[in-house]
Amino acid sequence: MKILFASDHGGFDLKRLLAAHARSLGHEVIDVGPHAADAVDYPDFAHDLARRLVAGEADCGVLACGTGIGMSIAANRHGGVRAALCHDAFTAEAARRHNNANVLCLGGRTTGPGVALQALEIFLSAPFDGGRHERRIEKIETAAQAGQGQSSDAPVVFAPRERQR
Ligand code: RB5
Repeated sequence: MKILFASDHGGFDLKRLLAAHARSLGHEVIDVGPHAADAVDYPDFAHDLARRLVAGEADCGVLACGTGIGMSIAANRHGGVRAALCHDAFTAEAARRHNNANVLCLGGRTTGPGVALQALEIFLSAPFDGGRHERRIEKIETAAQAGQGQSSDAPVVFAPRERQR
């Protein structure tokens, strides 16, 4: 398979480890950056990878930042991208089988190298189960396009109440 890889500084080492492993498994790797460990903004790289994936440059993608959270939020803004934040082989397998995820997101500060490599391997080999999951995947895209996934255009503000004393 052809696989896009990207990270920020928080996921830089993990990305390089994962990309090398994917190469050793016989996959073609496209590293869209960064190419040095200096601090960068994760959305720049998540959007770049997502645009390339949607354009058909590769079969799937792998994103790594400190937690994988920022990368997954940014990549999922792109229609057709199903970026799954995974923490281990179990979540990576479910992401493929149930969610037909096409981008694996991992955290360089949260997931150790051995577990991350297991997650990558199962992500690259597990099939989408289809069936009832097909309908649910379709609803993600159709509801978002019809505006059913949002109640207004106003920004959604998350303001937790102060903890009761
Ligand atoms: C960078 O410090 C960190 O915020 C980033 O790598 C990521 O964890 C964001 O979700």
